[in-house]
Amino acid sequence: MPVEMMKAVRIHEYGSSSVLKYEDAEVPDIANDEMLIKAEYASVNPVDWKIREGYMKERLHLKMPSVLGIDLAGRVARFGSEVTGFSLGERVVCRADVERGGSYAEYVAVKYGKVAKVPEGVRLADAAALPVACGTAWSALFESAELREGERVLIMGASGGVGTFAVQLAKNVGAYVAATTSSRNVDLVKSLGADQVIDYTSEDVGKSAREMDIVLDTVGGTALSAAFSTLRSGGRLVSIAANPDAKMAEERGIIIKPVNVNTDGKRLAELLAKVASGELRVLTERQFSLSEVAAAHELSQSGKVRGKIIIKIH
Ligand SMILES: NC(=O)c1ccc[n+]([C@@H]2O[C@H](COP(=O)([O-])OP(=O)(O)OC[C@H]3O[C@@H](n4cnc5c(N)ncnc54)[C@H](OP(=O)(O)O)[C@@H]3O)[C@@H](O)[C@H]2O)c1
Repeated sequence: MPVEMMKAVRIHEYGSSSVLKYEDAEVPDIANDEMLIKAEYASVNPVDWKIREGYMKERLHLKMPSVLGIDLAGRVARFGSEVTGFSLGERVVCRADVERGGSYAEYVAVKYGKVAKVPEGVRLADAAALPVACGTAWSALFESAELREGERVLIMGASGGVGTFAVQLAKNVGAYVAATTSSRNVDLVKSLGADQVIDYTSEDVGKSAREMDIVLDTVGGTALSAAFSTLRSGGRLVSIAANPDAKMAEERGIIIKPVNVNTDGKRLAELLAKVASGELRVLTERQFSLSEVAAAHELSQSGKVRGKIIIKIH
């Protein structure tokens, strides 16, 4: 068979956004347990540019040139002999495996167990926003911190990709939600349902939020240090942005909970159902085309993104 070609955004070396090349690449072959997805949308997460810069190279073994991107939504274009339950043209979403070939491409090969069908009424652009950010918010709140109804939770970085989902997920299970953000995003975070919004540019977070059962930190640095004074003794601290100080936690009787995110097709289907029912809203900062991924990475690296950055592919 002649080699099929597609457009993709690849890196040939680690580095700044200038290493992202919009170019021709081969359409991947699929294994028996994989499907080929014709991508319609991807989304950008901070981990994408961290991978591009080379920060993850000890853990991720990329074969250069390598297609980046993890979040993906599109339609089933082909499937292997072991794949069941899907039909051609069906709308789907998943986390692409960046070592296998990422989502910044017209066609992406993925294991079918990682794929969920997108219900009617959910836009593919919104579905593409979910896998990393919403999957992480869910795992951090409910698997790591074991958040329960009536508990007090502080979400640090509430206007970002993970934070916008975390505020809504926590509110929907009946938690008291406090949230940190800068002045320009206070109204946005209130609109997500937060009970208390703390403007970290003018308030002392460590004093404004007290007796928290749980802190979910998505920021790290000084924000993470402030988290310690907001927690009650016996409170749980989850950070997805940095390693909390274990000695300080022990001294204050705070329990550090590690995060292990495993967003498979089943979990994605649960999250999609919440979007379909209107329980979960997707906020989009901006949409770029596939040839503009470098600009999308630069925006993500600014650290000022509200909600998600979406890449339109087809
Ligand atoms: N471990 C994991 O599995 C995992 C998974 C997903 C993400 N992460 C990491 O988690 C972090 C957050 O991810 P994300 O997708 O949510 O990032 P993001 O969308 O880029 O977050 C941007 C947001 O951070 C807010 N922010 C910046 N400094 C802040 C501060 N001091 N206090 C409160 N908010 C602040 C900004 O709001 P303002 O403009 O209002 O400041 C902005 O809305 C990243 O480092 C990412 O790599 C880890």
